[in-house]
Amino acid sequence: MIRGYHTPVLVTEVVDALAPALAPCEASSARGDAPTTADPAYPEPVFVDATCGGAGHTLALLEDARTRPRTVVAMDRDADAIAWAEDTLRPRADALGVRLVLVHAPFSSLAEVLDDLQITAVSAILADLGVSSHQLDTAARGFSFRADAPLDMRMDRSRGMSAADVLAAIEERELSRILREYGEEEDATRIARAIVAARPRTTAALADTVREAMSARQRRRLGARIHPATRTFQALRLHVNGELDELKRLLDAAPERLRGSGRLAIISFHSLEDRLVKQRFSALSRPPAVPRGLPIPESERPSAAFSLPLGRRGQTPGDLELENNPRSRSSRLRALERCT
Ligand SMILES: C[S@@+](CC[C@H](N)C(=O)[O-])C[C@H]1O[C@@H](n2cnc3c(N)ncnc32)[C@H](O)[C@@H]1O
Repeated sequence: MIRGYHTPVLVTEVVDALAPALAPCEASSARGDAPTTADPAYPEPVFVDATCGGAGHTLALLEDARTRPRTVVAMDRDADAIAWAEDTLRPRADALGVRLVLVHAPFSSLAEVLDDLQITAVSAILADLGVSSHQLDTAARGFSFRADAPLDMRMDRSRGMSAADVLAAIEERELSRILREYGEEEDATRIARAIVAARPRTTAALADTVREAMSARQRRRLGARIHPATRTFQALRLHVNGELDELKRLLDAAPERLRGSGRLAIISFHSLEDRLVKQRFSALSRPPAVPRGLPIPESERPSAAFSLPLGRRGQTPGDLELENNPRSRSSRLRALERCT
């Protein structure tokens, strides 16, 4: 596995979760699944990595004979990730005879990307949400309060407003709502007031403004381990990148593009994301309602179109991973399977 750009989380769990869907094609033709790509340039099984990042998950799937796709569509909205994949993933895919398509695009455009490639349905999709270590640890990207840099926070630097520009124009009430909703920040009102008064343009200036504005009570509650600006930075990042809207659009489009027995796996890192994934997956895995009182025997009732192969709770990292990679702490993997 390539280290340096990002250390992927829950790798074994992702490989195991996607293995039944990516089983070599003989298995899927034995099941009688219809071919799903109009263009033989994209041989099956087709895997979509919606958040390629450092490509650690995709490389792990390529290295395991149970899960090696024959086509990989790897997307990321960050051009750095696409360049990294060109240098690291491309040579390995070529050596294994795997067709690789790299796409610089947000995963909200999944359906358009697949339509352009004339791929109607795929065997597996993975979305590993949030930011990469590369983004967090590159000071110039402006995601972190650990180093001083211009406050940018855009995953895609070719479009949208930087965090500094957002803060230069935002109204206090709107900022307060963002801090409360996306950061679950209890001191949202006073922090928003201080930020609007200072309109900070660097990560250090924002961190200082938040620290000074936060109530002593709230600082005591966070303790020494959590930086006072952690929640403000998270909220601002979610807002700048429209992360929850992106996720909602992925949750609408991705299940539709799974072939029979295809699986969608999503790793989330905080409760706001996880709640959206959990609610959408459980709605899809519920059988359609039958009008009350209709005398339909149990065996003839319509069944759900999707199931939850990892159950209702999904999976979280084990002790060893938690010890080796503290950033895995809040991760949770959930999976959805389209029934045949
Ligand atoms: C946690 S990292 C993924 C790491 C990757 N699974 C690996 O093994 O290295 C998240 C990646 O998703 C990308 N990303 C986040 N939101 C995205 C979106 N809406 N569309 C496309 N890419 C996104 C980020 O730019 C980042 O590179």
